[in-house]
Formats: sequence, structure tokens, C-alpha cells
Amino acid sequence: MSVLAINGGTRVRSEPYPAWPQVDQRDADAVADVVLNGQIGGWPEPGPRNAEFAARFASYQGASHGIVMVNGTVTMEVALKALGIGWGDEVIVPALTFAATAYAAIAAGALPVIVDVESERWTIDPDAVEAAITPRTRAIMPVHLGQQMADMDRLAAIADRHGLALVEDCAHAHGQRWGGRGAGCIGAFGSFSHQSSKTLTAGEGGTLLTGDDDLARRAHSIIDCGRPKDAAEQQFTFGANYRLGELACALLCTQLDRFEAQRAERETGARLFEQLADGLTGVSINPIHPQITRWGFYRYLFRIDPDAFAGATCKTVADALEAEGIAAEVQYPPMSRYDLFQPQLSRLPVCVVHANRLDPGRMSFPVAESAGEREAVYLNESVFRAGRQGVEDAVTAIAKVQQHAHELTAVRT
Ligand SMILES: Cc1ncc(COP(=O)(O)O)c(C=O)c1O
Repeated sequence: MSVLAINGGTRVRSEPYPAWPQVDQRDADAVADVVLNGQIGGWPEPGPRNAEFAARFASYQGASHGIVMVNGTVTMEVALKALGIGWGDEVIVPALTFAATAYAAIAAGALPVIVDVESERWTIDPDAVEAAITPRTRAIMPVHLGQQMADMDRLAAIADRHGLALVEDCAHAHGQRWGGRGAGCIGAFGSFSHQSSKTLTAGEGGTLLTGDDDLARRAHSIIDCGRPKDAAEQQFTFGANYRLGELACALLCTQLDRFEAQRAERETGARLFEQLADGLTGVSINPIHPQITRWGFYRYLFRIDPDAFAGATCKTVADALEAEGIAAEVQYPPMSRYDLFQPQLSRLPVCVVHANRLDPGRMSFPVAESAGEREAVYLNESVFRAGRQGVEDAVTAIAKVQQHAHELTAVRT
């Protein structure tokens, strides 16, 4: 008889994990207040709720400016444009991330140059970054993936040495800190997503953080159809309407009220997970970089050894965990598997100077490929908001799936 729930056995957890986002009357009141009394749209930019959220979130992370817009993809496009990056330029991105990171470079007119991630933490490999720099390179876009942060000390040193901009993709890293500095406050810009699954959400939205007055002014102008933001100069920029409406900004304000308590709860849960999962057969936890001084994560990643799971890879194991009632999944395929970034398959404009940079023969990223296709299992943030039991259930289910992994040969995906 089958033991694993994916084969009809009894699941470890029957109670659902807590829903996301957490909302109550305060959110409804905040939105109603905008509807009844205020400016509903995003123009004039920034509206009052937008400005309130931008100032509070920037201060929470430790930046002097927040620029709030429609999502966490255009944030990165706008950051690159504000930095003057575009046609003919190259931007280095990691091979393990959501497509948005590379898409943003393309949307700005630049070429994303994809490099592998470090084997210890699955964030962009600084050695690979340095090896990929050419005279056309203008920026590095590290992604703080899962509970990790990219090695910002090494990347900042490389960026300084080569005169490059750093734009941090912090879609997973609200609340995270590196050496006491907030994620998104180390590079020229930090980009955050407020899409519905993210840990600070209004359904949609994105925020750019920066400490530079001039970059902030340019970003505000780009997202507001290029309108001048400097009364004295009256300068127009190329821009479009990327403004976020005030209804969503009102929700961002109420969600920010709850954020620190939620972050602390997830951190406590994740520390418990690390204790309880220590010693599980076939499972390892990537070491947290000692420079991470505060944890804020969206998905928690752990590593499986497929050999210890009867050859099953991360997708099958995540499916088996989900059947056990655990909020687990796999996320990103390595960039080498996206048709989008294969010039012969996509409509990516490859000019002669760039042709060799997009040669599919160069698209080999062994660490990202192994992580994305064999090893990386993501636990949803909700696992860590369900008290001790929520975490214990996850650990029990992982051990159960490993012990009965021979059953998975029938269900391999
Ligand atoms: C790493 C990463 N970067 C960027 C984004 C894009 O954010 P948005 O969906 O708000 O455009 C996401 C969203 O899933 C993401 O996970």
C-alpha cells in the first residue's frame, strides 16, 4: 500500500497554511477613504498615499527616496533608464532568477548578459560577473534569491573597480539587511515588487529605492510620461505612464503597518526549520551569509540530493510535499532553458556587436541548471506563519517523502 499522499496515502497536514495577504477592515477602510475623499488615480504623481508609502518604506529599508510604480519589473527598466543605460549597453544578470530581471534590461534597450550563480548560495557569482565584463558593460543586477542575498561586498567592489552601476533586484528581500544596511540601499537602485504573492503587497505595484536625489528625480519623471520634476530646469525626459493608482498605494500603507511583525514571525519560523531540518537525510540548507544581519524572505529554499530521494528531482519532491499539505514548489528554470533568451528562437534584436554574447553555445550555467532542475525546493512564506506546528509539519513531510522516495519512481515529472 502507498504511504505517500501523492500516491493516495494519508497527508501529513490537513489544515491549510494561513492565507496571503492578511487583510482586515483597516485595509477596506483605507481604500474606501481614497474612493470617497481622495485622488483615486496616480496623477498628479506622486499622490498623497503614494508619497506616504514611499517615505515610510524608504525609511524602513534605509534609503532616502522611494519611487512607487506599477510593478517590480518596470522598476528595474526605469532604474536602468534613469542611469542612462540603453542601446548598445550590456547588463549582467544571474542565470537563476525570474525572467523579469533579464527582461528589464531588454526593455531598457540593453543586452542582458547572463552568468552563473555561486554553488554555495545560488546567488550571482562575483567571479563570473568579473569575467563577463566588457567595455560595453554598464550595470550588474544581482538578485537576492530566497532567503539569501547576493554577495554585496564583493559586487560593490567589482562595480567600483569597473565604474559600473549596481541595481539590486529585491523582489524576494523586503526587510532583508546586509551588514546593517537594507536590501536595495547598497546599489544605485534597489527594486521591490508588490505583486500579490510578495511579502509586502497591494496586488500589484513596485518600488525603487535610491539614495541619490538626481536619480530619484529622473525615475519620477520617467514613470510620469517624462514630465519635468525639476521646476527650475523644466527638463522633459522620455517616459511613459508607469504610475500606481492611489487605491493600491493605500493598501501598501496598511500592509506596511503589519510588515515588521510578519517578517519577525517568518524569521523565527525559519530558524526553527533550520534546527529541526538539521540532519535530515538528503537535505541541506545553504549557509546564510554572515553579512545578512536581518532576515526578510519570500520563499525559503533548501537543497535536496536527488540520489537520496531515489533519483527524484526537486519538481517531483515539491509535488510530493504539496500532496502532503506542505506549501512547497519549484520556481525558476535556469535562464539557459528560456526560449526567450535564445536568439534563434526569439525576436531579440541581436546586433552584430552583441551576436557572440547571445551565442546559445555560451548559455551553459551548470550551477543554476543543477539548482533549478534537480536540487532547489522552495517553501512558501506561509509555512513560517503557521506557528511551530506549521514548521514541524514541513520537516515531518520532507522526512516522510525521503523515506518513501522509492514510491516516487511512478510519479516522476
Ligand atoms: C526575482 C524577481 N524579480 C522581479 C519580479 C517581478 O515583479 P513583478 O511581478 O512585480 O513585475 C519577480 C516577481 O515574481 C521576481 O520574483
